[in-house]
Amino acid sequence: MDRFNIALDGPAGAGKSSAARLVAGRLGFVYVDTGAMYRAVTWKILQLGLKPEQTEEVVKAARRMNIKLTPGPEGQQVYVDGMDVTDLIRSGDINRNVSQVAQIAEIRELLVDKQKELAANKGIVMDGRDIGTKVLPDAEVKVYLTASTRERAERRYSELVNPTLTLDELEKEIAARDRMDSERCISPLAQAEDAVLLDTTGMSLHEVVEAVLELCRSKV
Ligand code: C5P
Repeated sequence: MDRFNIALDGPAGAGKSSAARLVAGRLGFVYVDTGAMYRAVTWKILQLGLKPEQTEEVVKAARRMNIKLTPGPEGQQVYVDGMDVTDLIRSGDINRNVSQVAQIAEIRELLVDKQKELAANKGIVMDGRDIGTKVLPDAEVKVYLTASTRERAERRYSELVNPTLTLDELEKEIAARDRMDSERCISPLAQAEDAVLLDTTGMSLHEVVEAVLELCRSKV
């Protein structure tokens, strides 16, 4: 098989990042988690004491910051201006603010350009919300992963080390983020016309990975 690109989109907690990481490992491809880039910008602006609605300042800060993604032992490592923020960008504070930051047109332009650059040489598994529709419209394989909101919340809940929310609260937070991501004007969360829908409710991670690999075999 020649190198090709895989676009994996879907709502929060659909299992995109775990599946993308394992698929990339099996194919010898590089995994790019685009959500981490929006999270990194959000982390930086909160560090600077800014709020997402201070658009002008947020955009200025994002233009000045340096985001670096490197493959790590447990997935992708994220650095902001040289500092490892891999774990810090998964906090509740970031979860609550990231979708608002991701609505800012200039932030999306900035990050989409970086994402296109990363995928230029192919051999990339990229996950996000607008990869099949906007970032890599020519990706050879496009999958839209979803699952029931409850199951997505349960999956995320089981990953939390010290949960500060109940499962019901987490489910509500996920539903609110999905709503914001699907209803925004620019590049909303959407299934590309040529993406294959994979509902992972009740599927194991192994089954999801095999299903994506099977699609790769049939499409490329
Ligand atoms: O994938 P993850 O849940 O880490 O993404 C965090 C947030 O980043 C999403 O809820 C969405 O608001 C934003 N995002 C986006 N476009 C992408 C990836 C993530 O708007 N391609």
